[in-house]
Amino acid sequence: MPLWPEYSVYPFSVLSRCGIKHPKPVPFLGNIFMFRQGFFKPISDIIKTHGRVCGYYLGRRPVVVVADPDMLRQVMVRDFSSFPNRMTIRFASKPMTDCLLMLRNERWKRVRSILTPSFSAAKMKEMVPLINTATDALMNNLNVYAESGEAFDIHKCFGCFTMDVIASVAFATQVDSQNNPDDPFVRHAQMFFSFSFFRPIMLFFITFPFMAAPLRRRDFLQLMLDARTSKEGVSLEHFDTANAAGELDHKNPQAPLSASDQDAWQESSARRPQKKMITEDEIVGQAFVFLLAGYETSSNTLAFTCYLLAIHPECQRKVQEEVDDFFTRHDSPNYTNVQELKYLDMVISEALRLYPPGFRFARDIDKDCVVNGQFLPKGATLEIPAGFLHYDPEHWPEPEKFIPERFTPEAKAGRHPFVYLPFGAGPRNCVGMRLAQLEIKMALVRLFRGFSIVACSETKVPLELKSSSTLGPKNGIFVKIQRRDC
Ligand code: HEM
Repeated sequence: MPLWPEYSVYPFSVLSRCGIKHPKPVPFLGNIFMFRQGFFKPISDIIKTHGRVCGYYLGRRPVVVVADPDMLRQVMVRDFSSFPNRMTIRFASKPMTDCLLMLRNERWKRVRSILTPSFSAAKMKEMVPLINTATDALMNNLNVYAESGEAFDIHKCFGCFTMDVIASVAFATQVDSQNNPDDPFVRHAQMFFSFSFFRPIMLFFITFPFMAAPLRRRDFLQLMLDARTSKEGVSLEHFDTANAAGELDHKNPQAPLSASDQDAWQESSARRPQKKMITEDEIVGQAFVFLLAGYETSSNTLAFTCYLLAIHPECQRKVQEEVDDFFTRHDSPNYTNVQELKYLDMVISEALRLYPPGFRFARDIDKDCVVNGQFLPKGATLEIPAGFLHYDPEHWPEPEKFIPERFTPEAKAGRHPFVYLPFGAGPRNCVGMRLAQLEIKMALVRLFRGFSIVACSETKVPLELKSSSTLGPKNGIFVKIQRRDC
């Protein structure tokens, strides 16, 4: 242990020794004061000042920020076996430490192999009726606001909607948080989110038995419980939800995973089927991850998309034309038919570019290594600044503008795939991506069939953002809503 004055500054030479530029740290605290108002802008400023490979100190922890798409492809896909872990959070407690976001190495691999089949296309089809029920409540709610003619916070409505989806998809519990905010599930979940991430939350799970009666079907918890006894899970090459081997979209030019990428990570232990065992603590951890990773991210995306369409009425009209045409062919949305909504997909993609809820994520550097000529020191954290990349003028002309046409197949084919990372990339990417896209599209297709969203004097342009954990609206998103048939 170094002496006290030394202790206060001794880690602060790591980055300089590796030639990584960074703002000047203060003893003990590093650069933490730069992030008092959130991370989004300060991280971009650090990159602009110090270059595409730069750094900062989060307390005494050195962080290497990598804003070079070729290097990121190397870290997230080609050299995945050297960077399988996300940053450790020192004061985290159960069940957070058992959830997929935080698990490390072999434990992560085992649990992800068990969890991945719960998000397959076949399982998503089973979720459709549940999402439709939550959307019914959303539509009723919006109708009340349409009749009132008043401005309202649409972000709050979507928060209730995604809570309903999670409650029914993950917990087999029917809660109608949109009409019954006093439901214990809703109260405890929201209580958790209104406090710090580091608060003990067992209360939430203790409340479990008193919640609404479980529905009789194979929900996510049941899938986990079944996994305790079955023999095999899927192996690493099936983990990447954007490119899962079984469902690989060979026509997708955006696919970040080439054949050589796949070979690279199949070489390690990946070929071995995973031994499938899950403890009860781990099951609780995975149930918890739905809330941690799926609640805010999805509701923020829905709210951001509606905000952008409110201030770009010409794009909203195009969405409505597509939606009207959709309903000449279908009675209701499902997993297969929402794929026809090409323009809506472009709009959501562009909303996720401008406002990515997961605007920064990380990989631990577990051993000294060199990536594309850059030395990376063991013990540091590598940060992937998706928020910065999404606005990089080298790849996105007029980056501040909302232009859904950036996501036509041709435009995507002409762009480096690692400058757009709303769901991350490689085997550690977002396991819930399909569920998120499904619930977002199912809600929006019905919303824009029935309503138009209108900007009003209460709509803040530009939007005020918070970015301490996920990127979200700071004070809600206020708009008006009109029924289309009147
Ligand atoms: C629009 C909504 C969502 C966005 C933008 C989003 C974004 C992300 C991002 C950026 C990551 C990190 C990826 C990486 O490190 O490469 C992630 C991981 C994750 N997400 Fe999502 N997510 C969304 C919805 C969901 C939903 C609905 C779930 C449902 C359970 C979910 C579960 C997870 C989990 C478990 C991980 C960690 C995966 C692992 O470590 O193996 N996400 N997400």
